[in-house]
Amino acid sequence: MKIIMLGAPGAGKGTQAKLIAEKYGVPHISTGDIFRANIKNGTELGKEAKEYMDKGLLVPDELTVRLLLDRVAQDDCKNGYVLDGFPRTIPQAEVLDKELIKLGDSVDFAVDVDVPDENIIRRMSGRRACLNCGATYHIVNIPPKKEGICDVCGSELVLRDDDQPETVKNRLKVYHEQTQPLIEYYTGKGVLRTVDGTLPMEEVFDAIVKILG
Ligand code: AP5
Repeated sequence: MKIIMLGAPGAGKGTQAKLIAEKYGVPHISTGDIFRANIKNGTELGKEAKEYMDKGLLVPDELTVRLLLDRVAQDDCKNGYVLDGFPRTIPQAEVLDKELIKLGDSVDFAVDVDVPDENIIRRMSGRRACLNCGATYHIVNIPPKKEGICDVCGSELVLRDDDQPETVKNRLKVYHEQTQPLIEYYTGKGVLRTVDGTLPMEEVFDAIVKILG
């Protein structure tokens, strides 16, 4: 099963992608998490990506596409995957489609987690992330068991650099200009499904499970 998560920054793509990965036994691949791991480890890729991410801009397609194609070629992706944060531009979607066609394959579902901009800004200021294992929390909606500490790996939770309100506004602008056109793209392919991302996390997941079967 090959699933793409669409939605604005902070719509809950990562939260839902993790639940999908667990239920359907496929890897959760987040390009944002891969970039953040590279930043944390001080790699060249991380240094380059950070310059764009801190401004709320997209990392250039040539860097992102190579990284994603290498990842989905790995053994654990044989039976599918859930992509979180990729594709984010029409050229990225076209490259993915071309690669899948070579394998006689295609995307099964593109799930759009729909949340209005005004909810997003509120959510992002309350988000806390674990830069070690990628888990995310919300200080009010989805708090960790122990304040400031990741339930999964025990690392310290942080407010991401790109979750500062000004950067969030810029990420939303970039989303509407460059990523939202993918909704039409996947509608045209007959695989787009939309869920109401303003509902509680469990209800959003139930709606997704109904779609995926
Ligand atoms: P990335 O990490 O992908 O960020 P994003 O798309 O902006 O998405 P987020 O991780 O911010 O949010 P999310 O939708 O996963 O929401 P979450 O589940 O955490 O990318 C970061 C940057 O990397 C980009 O800006 C770009 O620079 C670069 N990049 C990455 N991929 C790229 C690509 N393909 N091309 C180019 N550049 C790329 O939830 C948000 C909060 O809400 C959390 O606190 C959560 O607990 C809470 N929450 C979740 N669901 C609910 C709910 N139902 N009700 C209430 N609260 C909820």
